[in-house]
Amino acid sequence: MIMEKEIAVGPESVKEKKVIIDIKGLYKSFGENHVLNGFNMKLYEGENLVVMGKSGSGKSVMIKCLVGLMEPDKGYVSVMEHDISTLDQESLDVLRADIGFLFQGSALYDSMTVRENLEFPMRRHRKKLGDIEDTTPFVMEALESVGLEHTMELMPAELSGGMKRRVALARAIILRPKIIFYDEPTSGLDPITSKEIIELMRSIQKKYGTSSLIITHDVDCARVISERIILLVDGVNYAEGSYHELIKSKDAKVQAFFKK
Ligand SMILES: Nc1ncnc2c1ncn2[C@@H]1O[C@H](COP(=O)(O)OP(=O)(O)O)[C@@H](O)[C@H]1O
Ligand SMILES: [Mg+2]
Repeated sequence: MIMEKEIAVGPESVKEKKVIIDIKGLYKSFGENHVLNGFNMKLYEGENLVVMGKSGSGKSVMIKCLVGLMEPDKGYVSVMEHDISTLDQESLDVLRADIGFLFQGSALYDSMTVRENLEFPMRRHRKKLGDIEDTTPFVMEALESVGLEHTMELMPAELSGGMKRRVALARAIILRPKIIFYDEPTSGLDPITSKEIIELMRSIQKKYGTSSLIITHDVDCARVISERIILLVDGVNYAEGSYHELIKSKDAKVQAFFKK
């Protein structure tokens, strides 16, 4: 059941939005476990796209296929006009430098300070930044974007859960990515902290004009942040539309997502 809006014909639609990520007919199985069964997805420039799916439905598998960490059984995946299957390791690394990643549960390195955590992707993708000598301005700007300048020399253990998530967000944007992947950005946070994170995600999108792919089953997060939602059910894009379109659906599988 696909409810993708038809592309309007007329002078406006001639300037169609640029496709940043294109997934066509993605299949991935592990033995008898058929996780993705022909999944399709487009992410347009500057948009916030939410993908919702039950736990174990293949959301993380899909993201891994997107960044070349996992090879699909079948299907076409392109990111910023690069067919992922044709890229060698070096080209993949260059591409990944343009993708910010907020991992499920923050995933900070506990033995490193906040500053060192933020410097990590800068060292990994040195080429993108050229020969910068002082990382401090980058670290400061990223931390300022999430309101945590004062935590630079602290250890993760000294931060609350919400602060850790904000540091992880700062790390995701430090290389000024064109795309940000958020894997369950609000999971494990209380409602107020979740709201703060969602607000930060919005302000980051405004400030940097990034395109975002947000994986979540937090209905409030999806409602506030998404321009479009794709429901991943049984390995396919089962339904697609804005939050307000989807909540009106009479389909039981769609309704199940929005029941509280
Ligand atoms: N490397 C792997 N080997 C075998 N099975 C895997 C592997 N990665 C994921 N799976 C299986 O694929 C399914 C989807 O996993 P995942 O994408 O992590 O789900 P989620 O939607 O919760 O992110 C699960 O059944 C999981 O057990
Ligand atoms: Mg997952």
